[in-house]
Amino acid sequence: MTQEPTEQPKGHGQTAGDRSAHEAGAKDALLRTDEVVAGYVPGVNILNGCDFYVGDGELVGIIGPNGAGKSTLLKAIFGLIQVSSGSITLRGEDITGFKANKLVAKGVGFVPQTNNVFPSLTIEENLQMGVYQAPKKFRKSFEFVTGLFPALGDRRAQRAGSLSGGERQMVAMGRALMMEPSVLLLDEPSAGLSPALQDEVFVRTRQINRAGVSVIMVEQNARRCLQICDRGYVLDQGRNAYTASGKDLINDPKVIELYLGTLAKA
Ligand SMILES: Nc1ncnc2c1ncn2[C@@H]1O[C@H](COP(=O)(O)OP(=O)(O)OP(=O)(O)O)[C@@H](O)[C@H]1O
Ligand SMILES: [Mg+2]
Repeated sequence: MTQEPTEQPKGHGQTAGDRSAHEAGAKDALLRTDEVVAGYVPGVNILNGCDFYVGDGELVGIIGPNGAGKSTLLKAIFGLIQVSSGSITLRGEDITGFKANKLVAKGVGFVPQTNNVFPSLTIEENLQMGVYQAPKKFRKSFEFVTGLFPALGDRRAQRAGSLSGGERQMVAMGRALMMEPSVLLLDEPSAGLSPALQDEVFVRTRQINRAGVSVIMVEQNARRCLQICDRGYVLDQGRNAYTASGKDLINDPKVIELYLGTLAKA
């Protein structure tokens, strides 16, 4: 999808081209990306120099128009697409190009936007898949996850394919939490859910974060996302156009005009 260049908000946080705020904020970050360039086809870059970071214990939201590269950023972090330049760093270690299984072992969890459960497997088997690299973790992690999502324990023998969209999303989050990640990447966890279930996803995400897991949350429900996150990024055309606290972004007239649209009036 081609997009017209959009005017960037001024006044808060970082604007494209000025990396000093990013450098200062990302200094002791848990996970950071620096000037990441990546895409799906050689020569066609989707991420055009993306600076991003999440601190220990932070809940960071990423919003932006369709096709901005939000999912692409998460895929680049999780080693699912090739990074052609720039770097991704986890607790000071360069993890650029590391494959997903290695990243999971290092404490990075990922819940993709679609196809994020095994429908023919039961809830319990889905959760087992989450610890296939470390099966001994199962019992303790199962307790942790069913503590957060009691319904998953009650219905452990039910096939994931027979669950509602909201329940499936809980299974997907639960699976990613089984390895007790230090950072969880969520791609549009509330998409396609009823308003009540969307709300549950946001409450659960906050709860996971309070349990000590840093969270990176990409969301189409921008307003709700900014309400619960500590800090937000606006991604536009493969660059982080803008970052500030969730509260500042939600009240920024330019962000409202450009990215929150009519939702702002709700
Ligand atoms: N597998 C793929 N192969 C080639 N191009 C892709 C692929 N996936 C995404 N793209 C392109 O990359 C760009 C960014 O897509 P991405 O999925 O990261 O956007 P997004 O911000 O997550 O959008 P949405 O809000 O619709 O989920 C788009 O132009 C899209 O067409
Ligand atoms: Mg996406």
